[in-house]
Amino acid sequence: MNGFATKAIHGSLLRPEVHGALRPPVYDSVAFEFPDAHQIQLAFEGRKPAHAYSRITNPTVDEFEQRVRLLANALGVIAVSSGMAAISNVIMALAEAGANIVTTRWIFGNTYSLFEQTLKPWGLESRFVDMTDEKALSAAIDSQTRAIYLEVITNPQMQVADIDRVAAIAHERGVPVVLDGTVTTPYLFRSRDHGVDVEVISSTKYISGGATSMGGLILDNGLFDWSRNPKLAPYAKKFGPGTLLAALRRDVYRNAGACQSPHNAFLQTLGLETLSLRIGKSSANTLALAQWLEKQPKVHRVNYPSLASSPYFERAKHLFPLGAGGILTFDLAGREQCFAFQDALHLVRRATNINDNKTLILHPASTIFCEYDGEQKAAMGVRDTMLRLAVGIEDLEDLIEDLERGLAAL
Ligand SMILES: Cc1ncc(COP(=O)(O)O)c(C=O)c1O
Repeated sequence: MNGFATKAIHGSLLRPEVHGALRPPVYDSVAFEFPDAHQIQLAFEGRKPAHAYSRITNPTVDEFEQRVRLLANALGVIAVSSGMAAISNVIMALAEAGANIVTTRWIFGNTYSLFEQTLKPWGLESRFVDMTDEKALSAAIDSQTRAIYLEVITNPQMQVADIDRVAAIAHERGVPVVLDGTVTTPYLFRSRDHGVDVEVISSTKYISGGATSMGGLILDNGLFDWSRNPKLAPYAKKFGPGTLLAALRRDVYRNAGACQSPHNAFLQTLGLETLSLRIGKSSANTLALAQWLEKQPKVHRVNYPSLASSPYFERAKHLFPLGAGGILTFDLAGREQCFAFQDALHLVRRATNINDNKTLILHPASTIFCEYDGEQKAAMGVRDTMLRLAVGIEDLEDLIEDLERGLAAL
């Protein structure tokens, strides 16, 4: 069983199912009972694996985690309640007050806000560099750096860093790389093969199967020696390569309580089964639309890493041989034109999500980034002239017809 789709469909843990059900059941139970007091003690001490309480582990969530582990060839996986929970859990597990992380302003707006607004008052410094500037990256790392944090294709700037080089620089300095792989998933990008230590994913997006449910994933690729991290070193003797995930289950993940619900795990396991089909179609649609938009005189600029005109074209070919996912951005003359374009659309929905089955459009500067002033937006690579198209799996001709409507309104 080697193929991605085969593993996604057949890689089930819960076999044999008691009634022979082909779809694993949803264990919507908070607690699980034990035959005697000694067994429950062993479970609490971690000496005998068992489900005791669903905030910590649950069989349906476990099934989802194990399927993702198999697909990504990761050491281990923890599923959480949202993408933001995955990011915050990992950073809180790795870093402490007085420490720093090296990241970039070219990241999802809420992630930037997590670093600058939520975690800063707890004493964590975030250092912002351009991830394509190796010198700046290297210079920002010091003995207090606990992680390099970046996104696989930045949203909405569509920048692709040389992830292999970022990992090499980080590892020379004994620092792990944490990468947000939401927009590629393990189908388009094999993070382990490019030196990424920890991948975080918002499974709300592609994996949920069409915006059915919120979810997040933490994947430890098993590459980093966690005894090098001061906060995790005490766990490392006992847990070895599994230290980060063991520490999460005994500390931040357990205590912050951002667990995934069994019902969402069920929906997201179902989503995994069709992931390769949907992401393949959405990537193909996106490339075709990017090429079409580039030819339109009213469109000033199109950003998509698989376009030959993208500065990241060669890198994207190397990192994402199966396609660069479902997000593109394009620029019109100004904000007014961006609004008029959106308002003329019939099929494409005005909504803030990505990787849905439906194609969605958004003006990032007036929505996700509205809390930042002009200068901050410029530093974040968010232009007032820019629209983001999160491309779904509809028929291409219908999408083009709708975008023609948008252009006609200008
Ligand atoms: C790249 C990226 N990472 C993380 C998130 C956060 O995910 P969630 O909404 O599941 O918390 C998003 C949400 O849009 C995202 O685009």
